[in-house]
Amino acid sequence: MNAFEYRNGELHAEDCALNALAEEYGTPLYVYSRTHFEHQYRRLAAALKDADPLLCYSVKGCSTGAILELFRGMGAGLDVVSGGELFRGLRAGFDAEKIVFAGVGKTVDEIRYAIEQGVGFFTVESEPELERIAHVEGELKKSARVAIRVNPDIDPGTHEYTCTGKGDTKFGVDPATARRLSLRAIEHDALRLVGLHTHLGSPLMSVDPYEKALEVIRPLCRELKERGPHFRRLDLGGGLGIPYRPEEEPFDLDRFAKMANAAVGELGLQLVLEPGRFLSGGAGVLLTRVQYVKPHPSKTFLIGDAAMNDLLRPALYDAWHGVNAVRQTGETVCGDLVGPVCETGDFLARDRELPAAEAGDLLAVMNAGAYGYTMASNYNSRPRPAEVLVEGSSARLIRRRETWDDLVRGEE
Ligand code: LLP
Repeated sequence: MNAFEYRNGELHAEDCALNALAEEYGTPLYVYSRTHFEHQYRRLAAALKDADPLLCYSVKGCSTGAILELFRGMGAGLDVVSGGELFRGLRAGFDAEKIVFAGVGKTVDEIRYAIEQGVGFFTVESEPELERIAHVEGELKKSARVAIRVNPDIDPGTHEYTCTGKGDTKFGVDPATARRLSLRAIEHDALRLVGLHTHLGSPLMSVDPYEKALEVIRPLCRELKERGPHFRRLDLGGGLGIPYRPEEEPFDLDRFAKMANAAVGELGLQLVLEPGRFLSGGAGVLLTRVQYVKPHPSKTFLIGDAAMNDLLRPALYDAWHGVNAVRQTGETVCGDLVGPVCETGDFLARDRELPAAEAGDLLAVMNAGAYGYTMASNYNSRPRPAEVLVEGSSARLIRRRETWDDLVRGEE
């Protein structure tokens, strides 16, 4: 499904012309399609229905309250990695039982908050973390649930910064340690071992790494299912990719589902997944208005009003996002789409064929729904953009644009 399409040469989000939204709400502007979020969630739920999955939308992808509420309405759970994300989830009305809490550095305060709220389980990433959770649980006289995160030492083929499944990263523990910690959790009065977890990286374009990871953790699942009275979940994390470039093949959801359905069926476990990008990536675009066209002997710089502080992915990972003219002309130019931030790394597209825009024209940076707004900052004292959610022909502001006053709020 593509929620962003041209009609009479004008790029639309569902039935809303992006030009009109930019006029009304200003730029830079994030625009999301409600139908796209829903479509992706339902596709995933349908493909995995045999596994009776708990689909925990990964909040870090796109965390605005209205979007979380939308996922809650469809029956999703949440994957959170901080007290702040848990707060957001609870505020959006999620049942704490359906929230899973990952991350290598959970503080005592975060653990206490999560136990008090009754989160579904903690994904435990190290031995000292397991001890800390047990300690806080003992203090609160509650017993909360844990799943040990296995690092299967598999290369998922992602950018090195977003690869989490290799043995030399900070994430999870090796299978032997996972076994030892799992047995310890089974024996500990204050702990309940409810499952195993793994997350390989993001984005994955192939199902192969998931299959390899399953080979590593399957025997451990079997053993723990026998020995752990509460052991009933297999959490395969997130990472399901989306195509960013036109030539990229979509993630093979059918093959993934077949593999996951078969694995949990055979093991007699419930599947948990933590998809972020797959659900939100294609649902958003970032609109930027060209301010200047700056010729250069070797290329043309299109200087827009959106920058690396609004969408960090190209600067941080050299990530590729499509750039479309909101009003189609068909003419192209070779060069960079850059922003006003004072860094050479401030580009949204580099050394590419881009729409031949003029000052005042609008461009849409595609597939910006995941890790777009959530990674935005105020660098160069730039207020963060507004966010608009479209449904059919109606559009709703779901987060107002920050003001200069917002920039200094909180300063003493
Ligand atoms: N579960 C865990 C434990 C994770 O660490 C992540 C992502 C997810 C689930 C969701 O992954 P997804 O389904 O969205 O691929 N900022 C980077 C991506 C970082 C992902 C971090 N962890 C980017 O812009 O590509």
